[in-house]
Amino acid sequence: MNHTILEKFPKLLHGGDYNPEQWLDRPDILSEDIRLMKLAGINNVSLGIFSWSFLEPEEGHYNLDYMAEIIDRLYENGIYVDLATPTGAMPNWLTKKYPEVLQTDENGVQNLPGKRHNFCYTSPVMREKTRKLDEALAKHFGNHPGVILWHISNEYGGNFRDASCHCDKCRRAFRRWLKKKYKTLDHLNKAWWTGFWSHTYTDWKQIHSPSPHGEDLLHGLNLDWHRFVSDQLQDFCHEEIKAVQKYSDLPTTVNMMRYFEPLDYDRWAKEVDIISWDAYPLWHTKEDEIPIAVWAAAMHNQMRSFKKAPFLLMESTPSMINWQEKNMVKRPGMHYLSSMQAVAHGSNSVLYFQWRKSRGSFEKFHGAVVGHDGTEHTRVFKEVVQVGEALKAISNKVYNTCNVSKAAIIMDWENWWALKDAAGPKRNMDYVETILEHYRPFWEMGIEVDIVSMEMDLTEYQLVVAPLCYMYKKEYIEQIKTFVHNGGTYVTTYWSGIVDETDLCFLGKNPLAELLGLSVDEIDVGNEFFPNEVLYQDKKYPLGELRETVTIKGADVLGAYTSDYNAKTAAVTKNTYGKGAAYYIAAEMPREFLLDFYREVCVQADVKPNLSNPLPYGVTVSKRSGATDIYFLQNYNRTKVEVDLPDHFLDLVANKEISGKIQMEAYQCLVMEKQ
Ligand code: GAL
Repeated sequence: MNHTILEKFPKLLHGGDYNPEQWLDRPDILSEDIRLMKLAGINNVSLGIFSWSFLEPEEGHYNLDYMAEIIDRLYENGIYVDLATPTGAMPNWLTKKYPEVLQTDENGVQNLPGKRHNFCYTSPVMREKTRKLDEALAKHFGNHPGVILWHISNEYGGNFRDASCHCDKCRRAFRRWLKKKYKTLDHLNKAWWTGFWSHTYTDWKQIHSPSPHGEDLLHGLNLDWHRFVSDQLQDFCHEEIKAVQKYSDLPTTVNMMRYFEPLDYDRWAKEVDIISWDAYPLWHTKEDEIPIAVWAAAMHNQMRSFKKAPFLLMESTPSMINWQEKNMVKRPGMHYLSSMQAVAHGSNSVLYFQWRKSRGSFEKFHGAVVGHDGTEHTRVFKEVVQVGEALKAISNKVYNTCNVSKAAIIMDWENWWALKDAAGPKRNMDYVETILEHYRPFWEMGIEVDIVSMEMDLTEYQLVVAPLCYMYKKEYIEQIKTFVHNGGTYVTTYWSGIVDETDLCFLGKNPLAELLGLSVDEIDVGNEFFPNEVLYQDKKYPLGELRETVTIKGADVLGAYTSDYNAKTAAVTKNTYGKGAAYYIAAEMPREFLLDFYREVCVQADVKPNLSNPLPYGVTVSKRSGATDIYFLQNYNRTKVEVDLPDHFLDLVANKEISGKIQMEAYQCLVMEKQ
C-alpha cells in the first residue's frame, strides 16, 4: 500500500482540529458546525486530540458512542476524519491514581498534573493505559469509511518546557540505552573523554541524566542524552502506532512542530506513513514579510524532504495565535497567501487550529474559523471560504504531485545538538538561522531546494550546501567525496568538520581538507574594533563575527579578506575534485553576498530557477510537478509589484489566461499552468 497518499479521500484536504467535546451539551452548535463547515468548503477534520477524559471517563470504561455519532454525522455530510490518539493531555483520574505517569524535571522534581505532554514516556503504566485506549479506538473506528488517517497524539514533546523526563525509570532506561550502544564502560569513558576532569565512570549506576545541579558540561553525555530522549519518546510513539495498527491499516502521522530541537524529526519521519506539521509563522512582525516567508518556506521544504513526498499542513491559524507577547491578526490576503504557500511547497492540505473558538481556558482568544459570534459573516470566515474554493479548483492538478529539487541543504539534528553545546569561539551559534540564511537566496531566485539530513542519499542532487557542518558522521565523509568526485557541487562553511559522531575533535585536519583544497588555521570572533571585509568579484562585503584563516592547498581563491591580520588571505574558495567542485566560505557573510554567490554557483551547477525571468524582491515561485507542472507565484510584499512572465499561463483559480507583464496585488498568490 502506498501510504504517502490518502487512499480513501485522495483530494486536497481543507479543515482542521475540531474539538466538539466542548459543545456536547449544545446540540444546536454541533448542527450549526456542519452547516458552517459545508459553507467553508471543509472536507476533513481532526477529532479526539484532547479527548481522553471523554473517551475514558473512568479507568477502563470507554465511552465511544458520542464519538461514533459525530464521525457518522460528519461522514454523511462529506467530511472525513483524522482520528487522534488522545495522549497529548492526561485525565486527572490517571495522574491521581498513578502519579508515576507524571514527568520529572532535570532537578529531579516531579511535575504536578496539568498542561500537555506532561507524561513520563518510560512509565509502564502510561504505556499500558495508552495502548488499551488506542486499541479500543482502532477496533471501533479503524475501519469506518469516513476515517482516513491516524493522528498519533499531538505535537509530541510540546509541553512548554522541554521534552525530557528525568525520573528514575528514565535514568535506568538511559543506562540500558548506553549499555547497548557502548557495551563497556571503557568504550563510554573514551567516547565521552571522562578522564579529563577525573570523572571516569566505574559503574553504570554512576551515570545520571544531565542536570544543572550535577553534570551538564560533559558534551558526550549531553549528546547521548539528546539522542536517548528523542529515541525514547519515539519508542512511545512506536507503541501507539503498533496499537492502532493491530486493528486498522490506515496510514499514520504525527504532527511535528517547526525546528523542534529535542526530537530528531529525521528519525521520527521513518516511524510514520505521512509527514505533517503545524505552521505558525509570525506574519507582520518584521520590517517586511520576507524573513518570515523564508522561515515558513524552509520548514515546508524540510517536511517534504523527509520522505521526498507531499506532506500535510496539519495546523495553522486562520487569524491570530495567542501565545506570543503580542499577537497580530493576519492582514487581508495573508491567510490565502500563507495557506497557498504550504500547498506550493508540497502540502496536500490546509488545516487549521481550530474550527470553533473555545469559550474558556487558555485558547479562548486563539484564532479559529468560527468565532464567538458563531456566524459566517466575519472576515476570517470569508477568507477561509476563499481558500476552500481555490483548493477545490486546483485539487485535480495538484493533489499528490511534488516539487523536484536538484539542490539540497544539509540540516542535521545531531549536528545541531553538538554545535549548540560546543563552548568554542562563540556560544549559541544559531544553526537554524544559518540554514535559513543559506536557504534564502534559493527562495529569492525561485529555485527548488530540499533540506535533508547528513544521512540522506544525495545522488540525485547536483548541488549540496552544508552550512556549519560541525559534526561529520561516519558515512558522510565518503558520501561527499563520492558525490563531488562524480560531478556534484558542494558548498560548505566555517566551523565545519570539527568533531566526529561522539563529539570528539578530529585530530590532524578536517577529513574533507583534500576535497576542499585547503586547511583551516584558526577561527576567530571579530568585533567592531577589528573590522574586516571580503572582496569577492570586485565587490566588498562586510563580515559577521566568525572568521577563519585558512591555508590554501590547491583551491582557487575567489574572495579574500581586506583588513586585520589576515588581510589578503582566502575567505571564499573553489576546488576542483574529480568531475565536481567544492566551495568553502570561511567567514560569516551577509545576505547580499550569499545571493550573489549562490546565483553564480547555481549557474555553474546547472541548477535552474522555476521561471527564467528574474523576480522582483519579495516575490517567489514554487513548482509542483505531476502530469503537468503547476506554478505558485507568490507576492509577499505589502504593496503591488509588477512581474514579467516568460510564458503564457492559465490562472487555475480565476480560469483566465495571463502572460507578459502582470500586476500582482499585495499578498497575492497565483496558481498557474503553462499553456
Ligand atoms: C499547537 C497545538 C494546538 C494549539 C495550537 C495553538 O501547537 O497543537 O493544540 O495549542 O498550537 O497555536
